Amino acid sequence: MSPIIQAGTFSIGGHRVHRLGYGAMQLAGPGVFGPPKDRDAALAVLREAVASGVNHIDTSDFYGPHITNQLIREALHPYRDDLLIVTKIGARRDAKGAWLPAFSAQALTEAVHDNLRNLSLDVLDVVNLRIMFDTHGPAEGSIEAPLTALAELQRQGLVRHIGLSNVTANQIAEGRQMCGIVCVQNHYNLAHRNDDELIDALAADGIAYVPYFPLGGFSPLQSSTLNDVATRLGATPMQTALAWLLHRSPNILVIPGTSSVAHLRENLGAAAITLPEDAMRELDAVALSTDEAA
Ligand SMILES: NC(=O)c1ccc[n+]([C@@H]2O[C@H](COP(=O)([O-])OP(=O)(O)OC[C@H]3O[C@@H](n4cnc5c(N)ncnc54)[C@H](OP(=O)(O)O)[C@@H]3O)[C@@H](O)[C@H]2O)c1
Repeated sequence: MSPIIQAGTFSIGGHRVHRLGYGAMQLAGPGVFGPPKDRDAALAVLREAVASGVNHIDTSDFYGPHITNQLIREALHPYRDDLLIVTKIGARRDAKGAWLPAFSAQALTEAVHDNLRNLSLDVLDVVNLRIMFDTHGPAEGSIEAPLTALAELQRQGLVRHIGLSNVTANQIAEGRQMCGIVCVQNHYNLAHRNDDELIDALAADGIAYVPYFPLGGFSPLQSSTLNDVATRLGATPMQTALAWLLHRSPNILVIPGTSSVAHLRENLGAAAITLPEDAMRELDAVALSTDEAA
């Protein structure tokens, strides 16, 4: 039996998934641009993830661009019935790999069709609208126009459920008045905790919170406290950081990204870790310590 069942499950839009999933962004080339160095290794990571019980994969057609979705299709299509592929739209890449907003109704429609084609799907289960007012973090502003366009694609039957990414609480409230919002994907981890209040509010409403950069992303988490707690538990620091997220709130689903089968196996091992209260307290304090933030 796969250890990931120990992390429990949560429902996104009626689709129940293990709380420990996989983020596919790391499978593209350096800077999430171009092909992977080792295509077979990338395919092996995807196959190992699903074979280990992962049934929630996060992706986007702007990873590569197109390449990550094409790898998912090659490795996993035809997809298992229980596999939930969550994608995101709202950005595009230029010729040098820069991340640019792509918010017009036409750009969003093209993005949905690109995802459908490259993933070889007739309908996308969950599409996150990635807000780009500020690429690096949530910034206020109405999301009515792009969300109206995405809701129209939902009405056309191309998208089952809608999520939001890189958003403020106000934008989530605005979105929920327009259509159902099944998940929120923002930057959050042990050292970056701007969304603490938001996570609790979403939990009360049964909405999944899926932190991106759960391991620190491009600046991996580094903390002596994390190392000390991990050593005491007989776990690795990355496993401990994931276990902290899983313990933080029942609506948190983790999607650690890796291009390595060894790291994937290590990360999935986080499901089996129980964090005693004193360890949680120590880890909770990491974000307060200025010298230990990622
Ligand atoms: N909505 C958004 O705006 C947004 C933004 C960013 C990401 N995402 C999604 O969130 C997912 C997770 O974020 P992420 O992949 O950027 O960052 P992450 O999961 O925080 O960290 C990934 C980094 O950690 C390394 N890593 C993974 N497991 C490790 C381990 N056990 N030991 C040591 N290093 C390890 C990876 O390198 P190796 O490849 O060498 O393992 C990679 O450099 C992405 O894959 C993507 O699906 C969404």
